[in-house]
Amino acid sequence: METYHLTGDIAERLTTVARAMVAPGKGILAADESTPTIKKRFDTIGVESTEENRRTYRDILFTAPEVQDYISGVILFEETLGQAGMDGTPFPDLLTSRGIIPGIKVDKGLAPIPGTREEKATQGLDGLAKRLAVYREAGAAFAKWRAVITIGNHKPTQLAVDVNAHGLARYAALCQAAGLVPIVEPEILMNGSHDIDTCERVSEWVLRRVFEELAHHKVLLEGMVLKPSMVTSGDTCPEQADVETVAATTVAVFKRVVPAAVPGIAFLSGGQSSELATAHLNAMNRLGPHPWELSFSYGRALQEQPLNVWAGKDANREDAQAALLKRARCNGAARFGKYSPDMEAK
Ligand code: 13P
Repeated sequence: METYHLTGDIAERLTTVARAMVAPGKGILAADESTPTIKKRFDTIGVESTEENRRTYRDILFTAPEVQDYISGVILFEETLGQAGMDGTPFPDLLTSRGIIPGIKVDKGLAPIPGTREEKATQGLDGLAKRLAVYREAGAAFAKWRAVITIGNHKPTQLAVDVNAHGLARYAALCQAAGLVPIVEPEILMNGSHDIDTCERVSEWVLRRVFEELAHHKVLLEGMVLKPSMVTSGDTCPEQADVETVAATTVAVFKRVVPAAVPGIAFLSGGQSSELATAHLNAMNRLGPHPWELSFSYGRALQEQPLNVWAGKDANREDAQAALLKRARCNGAARFGKYSPDMEAK
């Protein structure tokens, strides 16, 4: 068996950046909504999704005072990586100057897998090595690739699990070769009537396949971050598992499957309410110490409140920033198991 591993300066850089991304007390802001997704979010507040409005909104998030105390990195969409804030500073430089690491979503969305019932594979491997070099030049230090798995109606199939695990590993290996830390995101959707036991079985199966492929592709585990969904009941399951059960089940699954060499697990929020996502993270950290950092990489659970407060109005800018700071602070406390619901009132 071949024993090649990344070594030397590149391995050291990847390990340092990956550790900084999951630094204690901090987490990652996922602000990498693609153009169609940010349009959906803007539709909910009646704001037109123009390039200028997207830039204004992202500027509000990235310049929010004090968030650097709780936010280690921000995932950007390609358009945002090339934009500048209101003061003319390119967003990657603006973030870096605040001690926040800029990252970039590099996948190209989902496409159906033929021969399945609408299961999806992630696109974007063609030409990826070239794009990664450009992104690194533009200031990105890490990347993200999202794979999606659906539960229910005989899903997932082995084929969908294999295709997605392979894609994640190919992407991760290419990132590391380009000097970027890969965020490996196998999202198991919450949608469905399945119970938490089913989610537990599927999560374990998917994560096992992902780590097999990562090993096969010689990905340096010390230089990556895992971004999974939590193990929960499906959103329409009549029996919803409580916070303690979700925390205990999620931690149990990850202990079985995720090697201790991985520096951190940064959960996605996946449609959970902002407060519930924080409560789950808090409960998991209260069960520690764990072999890895248990952190957050939330999109909706960090942005829903600031987005609603902003509502497209300049006059609400500072209140929107305060709303983001509150969520960041609550999740920062949850990193130590020190969140309590009365922090929501402050
Ligand atoms: P959510 O936290 O809204 O699920 O988004 C995180 C993310 O980056 C999904 O790819």
